[in-house]
Amino acid sequence: MTQTEPVLALDNVSKTFGRADQPVYAARSVSFALHPGRTLALVGESGSGKTTAARLIMREYRPDAGQLLFRGMPVTSSGLKSYRAAVQMVFQDPFASLNPAHTVRHHLERPLRLHRPKMKGAERQVAIDELLSRVKLDPKLVAPKYPHELSGGQRQRISIARALAVDPAVIVADEPTSMLDVSVRLGILNLLNDMKRQLGLALLYITHDIATARYVAEDIMVMYAGQIVEWGETDKVLSNPQHPYTRLLLSAVPDPDQRFADTSGAAELTHVEEIRRRSALPQPEVRQVAPNHFIRPLP
Ligand SMILES: Nc1ncnc2c1ncn2[C@@H]1O[C@H](COP(=O)(O)OP(=O)(O)OP(=O)(O)O)[C@@H](O)[C@H]1O
Ligand SMILES: [Mg+2]
Repeated sequence: MTQTEPVLALDNVSKTFGRADQPVYAARSVSFALHPGRTLALVGESGSGKTTAARLIMREYRPDAGQLLFRGMPVTSSGLKSYRAAVQMVFQDPFASLNPAHTVRHHLERPLRLHRPKMKGAERQVAIDELLSRVKLDPKLVAPKYPHELSGGQRQRISIARALAVDPAVIVADEPTSMLDVSVRLGILNLLNDMKRQLGLALLYITHDIATARYVAEDIMVMYAGQIVEWGETDKVLSNPQHPYTRLLLSAVPDPDQRFADTSGAAELTHVEEIRRRSALPQPEVRQVAPNHFIRPLP
């Protein structure tokens, strides 16, 4: 168990889209907590509700039910400005998330001006250099460049530097490496890991790739049809997966260490009709598998 107080928590948050007669439960009583210096991975297939969870955290969506807690307090509209600085996002697409008309320096200057308005021009230039060094880019070389002059991996490092510029407590990274060349993915994950350790950040790492979750995250949760169906310490969950959907996800990962997981009858779980049918059934109670390992059994 983690000893720290959570910095951010979702408490039974729900969000439904679509028509009343054909609802899409994008988030269904989702609860989890992010802790300083730890990474929580959110894994699940396309459409399982991962980005919806990120958007709820970023306050792009208001929950239909449940609440968001920041340092134990509900996030209110009056506290939104400091909340928005404290909770930063790194997006999937490093090409779309930077403005092609502006230099790297400009991208970092803006958040610094907003977050630290008293900072003098010269100090700001030093801060920009420090941010670039933090993300392992050469400030002299990179600061004057435009996004199109950078590789995807470099752009993603700029996105991370920009997030760090406002001194956040939480970073939400939604598939931060899936659009990058395979050869630079590990570098970005290592960088996020370093930032987490050095700055005590709480990280939510969203991915459909359970193998990378194993690599970066102390804790993991598996999302299926808008619900968190299995969660706990990453090692425990992945070495002894109990939910058929977790087993299904793991069966797609080539891993010689993974003992054979029974996936019989699990393939149908991903069919839209099956998801709809099961979503309408009463949901079973959460069951504890082991200390810090839980599942919500299928209805
Ligand atoms: N703004 C919206 N309006 C209507 N339906 C939406 C909206 N956003 C998400 N959904 C639906 O909610 C469900 C969850 O979508 P979400 O984008 O959260 O999934 P995801 O796990 O991030 O998928 P991916 O891996 O493809 O990014 C999907 O069925 C999606 O179509
Ligand atoms: Mg998504």
